[in-house]
Amino acid sequence: MDVGRIPKHIAVVMDGNGRWAAARGMPRLYGHNAGMKAMKAIVNHASDLGVGHLTVYAFSTENWKRSADEVSGIFGLIVTYVDRDLAELHRNNVRVSVIGDYGSLPVKAVRSLERTLATTSGNSGMRFNIALNYGGRAELLRAARAVARDCAAGVLDEALLDEEALASRLYTAGAPDPELIIRTGGEKRLSNFLLWQGAYSELVFSDVLWPDFTPKEFEKAIEEYQGRSRRFGGRG
Ligand code: IPE
Ligand code: IPE
Ligand code: MG
Repeated sequence: MDVGRIPKHIAVVMDGNGRWAAARGMPRLYGHNAGMKAMKAIVNHASDLGVGHLTVYAFSTENWKRSADEVSGIFGLIVTYVDRDLAELHRNNVRVSVIGDYGSLPVKAVRSLERTLATTSGNSGMRFNIALNYGGRAELLRAARAVARDCAAGVLDEALLDEEALASRLYTAGAPDPELIIRTGGEKRLSNFLLWQGAYSELVFSDVLWPDFTPKEFEKAIEEYQGRSRRFGGRG
C-alpha cells in the first residue's frame, strides 16, 4: 500500500456478522458485537492513515425486515459503542456524522447519537459517517422532495437544477464521493448503499466476514484500489 495515495473517502459495507456468529454456534447478536469491535479498530486505523472520510453501513432501510430482537440488539450495540468510545473518538479528533433517517430510531439511540455528534462537531480530523436507517433510494427521494419544495418556494430555479444542486441535498452534502467502496462477507452487491455517490467508486469485495476484517485487510483493500485504472468514461 502506498501511504501517499490513500483515498480521501472510503466507504464500507460491513457484512457477515450473522454468518460469523453462526459458524461459532452463537446467536446473531454475538456477531454484531464482534462487528462493533472490528469497526472500532478500522475507525482508528483509517484515522491514523489520514483517511478524510470513512463511511460505514451499519443499518439499512431494509434491515427492519429482521426480527425485532435483532434490530433492537443492533441499536443497543450502537449506543454502547458511541457512549463507550466517545472519549476516544473525541481524543482522536474524529468528527462523527450520521447519514440516514436516524430520528426514527429508538429514543435512547437518538440521544446517544446526538450527544456524540454535538461533542465531536468541532473536531477537524477524520469524518466518521455512520449510515443508520440509510438507503440510497430513500436518500434520493428525500433530496427530490427537497428540490421540489425549494422550486415551489422559489428558492431554486428548475432550469438551474444540476448535479451539484441535487448532491447538496443528500445526506453526504459537502463530502467527496467515495473513491473506494469495500464490501466484506463475500456478497457482491451494493444493497442500496451510496447509489448516487458510488457512480464511479472502485468496488473491492472481500470474502472475510466483517468481525474478522482487520486493519491489515483494510490496507489490502486500499492496495487493490491503488492498482486500479480509473477512467471515468475517458481513455485514461
Ligand atoms: C451485517 O451483517 C450487519 C448488518 C446488516 C446490520 P449481517 O447481519 O448481514 O450478517 P450476515 O450477512 O447475515 O452474515
Ligand atoms: C447490507 O448488508 C447492509 C449493512 C451492512 C448494514 P445486508 O446483509 O443487509 O445486505 P443483503 O441483504 O445481503 O443484500
Ligand atoms: Mg448480510
